[in-house]
Amino acid sequence: MIMDKEKKTMLSCVQPSGKLTLGNYLGAMRNWVGLQDDYNCIFSVANEHAITVRQVPAELRRNTLEVLAQYIACGLDPQKTILFIQSHVAAHAELAWILNCYTMFGELSRMTQFKDKSARHADNVNAGLFTYPTLMAADILLYQADYVPVGIDQVQHVELTRNIAQRFNNLFPNTFTMPEAYLGKVGAKVMSLQDPAKKMSKSDDNTNSFILLLDKPEDIMRKFKRAVTDSDNRIVRAEDKPGVSNLIGIYALATNQTPEQVEAEFEGKGYGDFKTACGEAVVEMLRPIREGTEDLLKNKDYLEQVYKEGAQQAAYLARKTMDKVHRKIGFVAK
Ligand code: TRP
Repeated sequence: MIMDKEKKTMLSCVQPSGKLTLGNYLGAMRNWVGLQDDYNCIFSVANEHAITVRQVPAELRRNTLEVLAQYIACGLDPQKTILFIQSHVAAHAELAWILNCYTMFGELSRMTQFKDKSARHADNVNAGLFTYPTLMAADILLYQADYVPVGIDQVQHVELTRNIAQRFNNLFPNTFTMPEAYLGKVGAKVMSLQDPAKKMSKSDDNTNSFILLLDKPEDIMRKFKRAVTDSDNRIVRAEDKPGVSNLIGIYALATNQTPEQVEAEFEGKGYGDFKTACGEAVVEMLRPIREGTEDLLKNKDYLEQVYKEGAQQAAYLARKTMDKVHRKIGFVAK
């Protein structure tokens, strides 16, 4: 893939800190697929971010390859898009160090994700967890990205990235492109099937609350049948019907319909029928992704070729930015 100067650059990453959910797919990856022709796209597997909380090494390795395989199985095309593993491009850690020196302690202290994660992992509030946003800023600024497709929970980190870029550019003009968070379509936020007030999350203790992209069809069906609804048995969206509203949103996305069409389709029908239909639609939507991922994971040579070529292309772009940064801040050229 070559960067097309006429096109804007999009960059995003997924952490391989577990399995990807239906929420990751509908909220992120599915939308990225459609961006590949209109933007220069760069997507990486953020394994350096993942180690800010403890990981089991063998699982981290496996999950990293699994995320890469799922990127491809979801429709990200290595011919069009740069796909790589973060740790394969050393410039991420290099630039993160430099940006640390242009990021304020107070700014990092205000990050809500840091506050949440340090509360959840009180026994391991390491420096990496604290400086995680400067690594994310490095991911973005290294490639002079214009847009960063992220969920709402990451917008604060993109805002911080902008502040860091602004501060740096004020001292050293024209170093970094100012990035912008790119929020996908509204309604793509998928909630827990057990507690629709919460976002669907793989770290939920109740495994019935989330659907994994690699879940078996019978597990998907079971989880939808057990999904929390309410007692009034009407399939319409309403504020006091968060469970049903969430299922309508999922079904609409899985069948490419509007929520209004879904409500019309199920008028007069009961929750039992609707939940079965949701399960079946999601099974069919995820089937090619699960099968594609399984095939790719058996084909390690191909995956290796993809991530090596991706890293080479990414490293070339990253090096251009690093050279510029080194020159500007007064590091002696190699
Ligand atoms: N922090 C992001 C998350 O947890 C993942 C991420 C790392 C990222 N680096 C990034 C997202 C750069 C966008 C751009 O979801």
